[in-house]
Amino acid sequence: MSNAIGLFDSGAGGLSVLKKAIDRIHNKNFVYLGDTKRMPYGVRSPEEIKNFTIEAMGFLQDKGVDLSVIACNTATCHGLDASQNRYDYPILGIISWGSIDSVKVTHNRKIALIGTESTVKSKVYDNTIKSLDSGIELRSIACPDLVLAVERGEFEEKHMEKIIRNHLNEFGDFDYDTIILGCTHFPVVKDSFKKIYKKDNRNVKIINPAHLSIERAMEILSIEKDNEPIDNRTIDFYITGDVEAFKHTLNQVLDLNGFKLSFHQVDLSSFDKYLKK
Ligand code: DGL
Repeated sequence: MSNAIGLFDSGAGGLSVLKKAIDRIHNKNFVYLGDTKRMPYGVRSPEEIKNFTIEAMGFLQDKGVDLSVIACNTATCHGLDASQNRYDYPILGIISWGSIDSVKVTHNRKIALIGTESTVKSKVYDNTIKSLDSGIELRSIACPDLVLAVERGEFEEKHMEKIIRNHLNEFGDFDYDTIILGCTHFPVVKDSFKKIYKKDNRNVKIINPAHLSIERAMEILSIEKDNEPIDNRTIDFYITGDVEAFKHTLNQVLDLNGFKLSFHQVDLSSFDKYLKK
C-alpha cells in the first residue's frame, strides 16, 4: 500500500476536492487522475462516463491507493455504483454528501443546483434530495461554459463574474436560500459566487459537496480529526491530456508548497484492460 488516497476527475475540477482533502488530512499521500484528454464529461453519454469511471477506479487501485474519491459529480452520477460493484476497495462519490449538506442547511427548502448537462439530466441530485426531504423544491441549471473557463484557468474576475451571473439569472425569481455547486470545477471559483451574492445583498448558503465526502473518507480510513503530519508527503498527478495545460490551472488554484509533486502523462490505451476484467 502507498498510504495514499486516490482522486479522480475529468480534469482540474477535482482540485477543489484535493484542496478539502489536504486541509483536513495530513498523514496521507495523494494520487490524482485527471482525464483531460476526454473532458468535458458533461456532454458525453451515461454509458461512456460509466466506463471512463470504471477505468479510472481500476487505474487508481493499481496505484495502490487505500480509497478513491470520485471527485467529479458527473462521474459519480453514472459510474459510482458500477465501480463499487466491480472493485473491492473503498470508493466514494460526492453527490449524496452534497445532498445531505444542502438539506441540512436550507431554511426555506428551496435549493438551486448548478452542474454539467449530464448531472442535471440524470436527476441524481433531485432523487437523492427528495429521498431525504420530499418537500424540498430543487431547480437545476447546466453551466458548461463555466466548466471550460475553470479548466482553462481563465480566472480573470470580470470574465468569471459575467459567466456566473448569466447562469444565476436563469433561476429567475426562484428565491432559493442554498445553492449546490454540483460540479467540482465550480468550488474552485467559490469566492466569485460569494462576491456576487454579497453585491446582490442575498444570503445564500453555498454547498461544496466535497466537504462531507472527505469527512466520510476520514471515517472509513480511521483518520483522526487532529491527524499528525507525516514527512515528505507526495502528490502524484496522472494526466491523460496536456500536462503543461493542467499545471497552468493547478498553479493558479492550489498552493502545494511542502509536497513532493510528480507529473505523469498517461496513455489511454493502458486503460483498455480495466473494462475487460
Ligand atoms: N468536474 C466534473 C463534475 O464535477 C465534470 C466536468 C466535465 O468534464 O464536464 O461534474
